[in-house]
Amino acid sequence: MSLEFKHIPVMSEDIDKILTPYKSGVYIDCTFGGGSITREILSKKNTKVISIDRDNFVETFSKEISKEYNNRFEFIIDRFSNLENILKERNLQKVPVAIIFDLGLSSFQIDNPERGFSYRQDGLLKMTMGKNNVTAFDIVNKLDLKDLRNIFNLFGEDKDSGLIAKLIVQKRQDKEINSTKELAEIILRAKRYKNSKYNKVDSCAKIFQAIRMIVNQELTELYEGLISAINNLSIDGKIVVITFHSLEDKIVKKVFDFFSNKKKGTSRYLPQNNENENFNILEIKDRKPTIASEKEIKNNNRARSAKLRCATKVQDHSFEFKRSYLNLEKYFQLEEVMHA
Ligand SMILES: C[S@@+](CC[C@H](N)C(=O)[O-])C[C@H]1O[C@@H](n2cnc3c(N)ncnc32)[C@H](O)[C@@H]1O
Repeated sequence: MSLEFKHIPVMSEDIDKILTPYKSGVYIDCTFGGGSITREILSKKNTKVISIDRDNFVETFSKEISKEYNNRFEFIIDRFSNLENILKERNLQKVPVAIIFDLGLSSFQIDNPERGFSYRQDGLLKMTMGKNNVTAFDIVNKLDLKDLRNIFNLFGEDKDSGLIAKLIVQKRQDKEINSTKELAEIILRAKRYKNSKYNKVDSCAKIFQAIRMIVNQELTELYEGLISAINNLSIDGKIVVITFHSLEDKIVKKVFDFFSNKKKGTSRYLPQNNENENFNILEIKDRKPTIASEKEIKNNNRARSAKLRCATKVQDHSFEFKRSYLNLEKYFQLEEVMHA
């Protein structure tokens, strides 16, 4: 296993500021990656960290940390949508003092051509983070024109979604589309046809990210992880989320708004029959997300699209939150289209 790639964490100083002063207790790092957030927490006395990642590859990094912090650290290969069960099995419900999500991919994943995430290098169409049922190959070769167009339009926000979907369907009538290079060529062909001044990087990045989100059901994962985190934090516990896509940020904002009673009486997604419930479950200091400093963006281009939101749990609740309250069903349903 190669460790030649290095992951530079995004907004780690901002996370540190939120968690300082570090309380003693259990922290959950839902997106272990290269382990820098886990390490930072473990460097503080009387902390324990349970770290989750769906990618087998990062287990290597967890072993290094285990050697140093043997009895204060546990690493679990799983999806964070399973957080509720992970905590239940360990009798840790309502125990964590902080739960952290640093979403997206690590450089170990993006920079490895064998994983098929990047249009910059040729590789098989995979894009699986780990614990997947489908690959990018399945999405590109099996979905019908309408679903492909909707994915590119809603997740990629690409105005040429229809043409890209059409060219994919045309191409695969001759032969299956197997590689990232073939897919990138089709996207660029559509762009050249529509507008000679297209931006190669943006065009491919958006479509690749859209497919990746469907392969890994990233919005569904986030939604389920967030709700479990809110249900299972201790009182005064903190939830911190860094997102890299506008739809992810929208989910975090809507869920935080709901649980902090910010839209009571005005929101269409608030359940009417629960008007008298107390929704002040979370306290939000700032409803605007924190973004990376110019200096950080200069040193780490990944930081340019990062948005950080955090909340503190102030009380428990007993109502059942329904996904449909978010008014984002069309996105969730598209993520389910290959997984049904
Ligand atoms: C941006 S990296 C995290 C980097 C990490 N904070 C660090 O400092 O090195 C995101 C990681 O989260 C993992 N991940 C993404 N979605 C996940 C999910 N639904 N469940 C578990 N792990 C997930 C990815 O495999 C990746 O390793």
